[in-house]
Amino acid sequence: MTEGNVFATSQRTHRCGDLRASHAGAIVTLGGWVHRSRDLGGLVFMDLRDRAGLVQVSFNPDWSSAAAIADAAAVGVESVVLVEGTVMHRPGDMRNPDLATGDIEVRATSIRVVGPAVTPAIPVARGKNDKLPAEDLRLRHRYLDLRRPELQANLVLRHHLLQVTRQYLSARGFLELETPILTKPTPEGARDYLVPSRVHPGEFYALPQSPQIYKQLFMCCGFDRYFQIARCFRDEDLRQDRQPEFTQIDIEASFIGIDDIMALSEGMVADIWHEAGHEVPTPFERMSYADAMERYGCDRPDLRYDLAIDDLTAVFAPLDFDVTRNAIAAGGRVRGLRVPGASAWSRKQVDELESLAKGAGARGLMRVKKVEGTLDTPLAKFFTPEVEAALAARMADGELLLVVAADDRVSNPALDRVRQECARRLGLVDELARRFVWITDFPMFDKDPATGALSAVHHPFTAANAADMAAYPDAPERWRALAYDCVLNGLELGGGSIRTSDPRVQSRMFTLLGIGDTAEQERRFGFLLEGLRAGAPPHGGIAFGFDRISMLLSHGTSLRDVIAFPKTTAARALFEDAPTTVPADDLRELHLRSTVEGA
Ligand code: AMO
Repeated sequence: MTEGNVFATSQRTHRCGDLRASHAGAIVTLGGWVHRSRDLGGLVFMDLRDRAGLVQVSFNPDWSSAAAIADAAAVGVESVVLVEGTVMHRPGDMRNPDLATGDIEVRATSIRVVGPAVTPAIPVARGKNDKLPAEDLRLRHRYLDLRRPELQANLVLRHHLLQVTRQYLSARGFLELETPILTKPTPEGARDYLVPSRVHPGEFYALPQSPQIYKQLFMCCGFDRYFQIARCFRDEDLRQDRQPEFTQIDIEASFIGIDDIMALSEGMVADIWHEAGHEVPTPFERMSYADAMERYGCDRPDLRYDLAIDDLTAVFAPLDFDVTRNAIAAGGRVRGLRVPGASAWSRKQVDELESLAKGAGARGLMRVKKVEGTLDTPLAKFFTPEVEAALAARMADGELLLVVAADDRVSNPALDRVRQECARRLGLVDELARRFVWITDFPMFDKDPATGALSAVHHPFTAANAADMAAYPDAPERWRALAYDCVLNGLELGGGSIRTSDPRVQSRMFTLLGIGDTAEQERRFGFLLEGLRAGAPPHGGIAFGFDRISMLLSHGTSLRDVIAFPKTTAARALFEDAPTTVPADDLRELHLRSTVEGA
């Protein structure tokens, strides 16, 4: 990622952070921000900063005018200055090995303050042990926070990752095509952000949750291969790995199958990771959704450690114990995690795990320890000698068995949560490991147990497995989808599917999803159905979360570390101060009236 001296302009000759010992003797003009400054009474040492880094500038009566020294001593930190001077080797004992420019300094002959700064609301320069200011404060003053070298490095890396992505896809015939931001709702499972139309009273645009329908239409139009670095908008509950407005690497291709899309994606991921200095072996491992749920209780398993779930239904079935008996009678199972070396955990520590399981919906978390060959458990009174022997045979010494008896819908999230916490406690998470896995064969639909209503697990445009449709024509909840997710260390990086390209099948999918009325189908999705009816090639695609990728590769813990102007977890933009109320007159013009008092 080296850049030549393309930065020379009529106002400056070099960037501060680019100067090296090889520049010694050169007369340079630099433009930058005063990072810090020390006035030793007539001698001023200033660290000058620009995007390339820091350089030390010194003012001394031997080479600087009295006026330059006075100006340097007076200028406030974070002001922008133009400095002229000579690059000189630093004496051996003055070298700074921690700084890329540490072999030299610039002896300034003149300084001009071109952008004086008020006292910064938060400091930009930090000592090694200085803590960052609170995040709310940093987000409020993002114009200063973005000057921090760490955040600058993140955004520079983001830029390079985007270029690699574009190059990779362009080289394979993908066209970068744009799709509208003012559009119609595209169902991706979140709420839409709506934009009222002024000229069409009572009507609204939606911001796209993804370019899904448009990219399929591109395939119908014959563009064959499309990609876009696409901004998506979803009004959903936020977490560290979600933003209301985020960026996808969005891809679609015609005459393509699952293996093709996976190979293409693996190559792209490998190039992106390579750009950040990491080699990624391909192809990635594949695991069916059913296996992932069975083993890890989760469709985005962190495979850096195993700690798999055991089905203990047969072992517990003979017990005369309400909790397990009722769960099994209701069609549930008894499943547990055998945690090595955890028999020494205190009651309080195991209670904490139980709280996590309860937080995830379980009614409790049963516990069995095996210590020196014997079982130690509050369940002992329910055990028959046979059950005890069967369980003891399955457990190793020192293990703690944590058990949930319930429907899989309940035990999966509970055991997933407990598994993650156990791995963290045991230090099983290798921070340097990268375990990519494709999760395949997702169910097509999720069935609400109370109402029986179906919803799309991926989205309504995903194709179902033809063999499943033929085998269970009346049980769509048993159909698997031609959908796949790319997961890394427990984080979903991307997801996609082969699409339904037959408009009649697409219409049937809408009917299964409760949109049976053909007029309603045409109203909501006519623009896709018409496109499909006009001659559609088989097609499929994928979208990767670009912010998530950038976050991982810059070792950030939050998407806010890689988005220039992010929202808080409360979906607020603190710096711009959005959202805001608008004057009643503006609302009236949009044919809207607020029901919020005082708004
Ligand atoms: P999906 O909804 O799975 O698929 O999104 C693809 C990827 O986008 C990222 N992502 C997010 N990143 C940050 N904040 C969010 N709120 C957020 N939501 C999703 C994730 C996710 O894997 N149209 C389909 C793709 C397709 O079928 O081709 C889609 O959008 O990394």
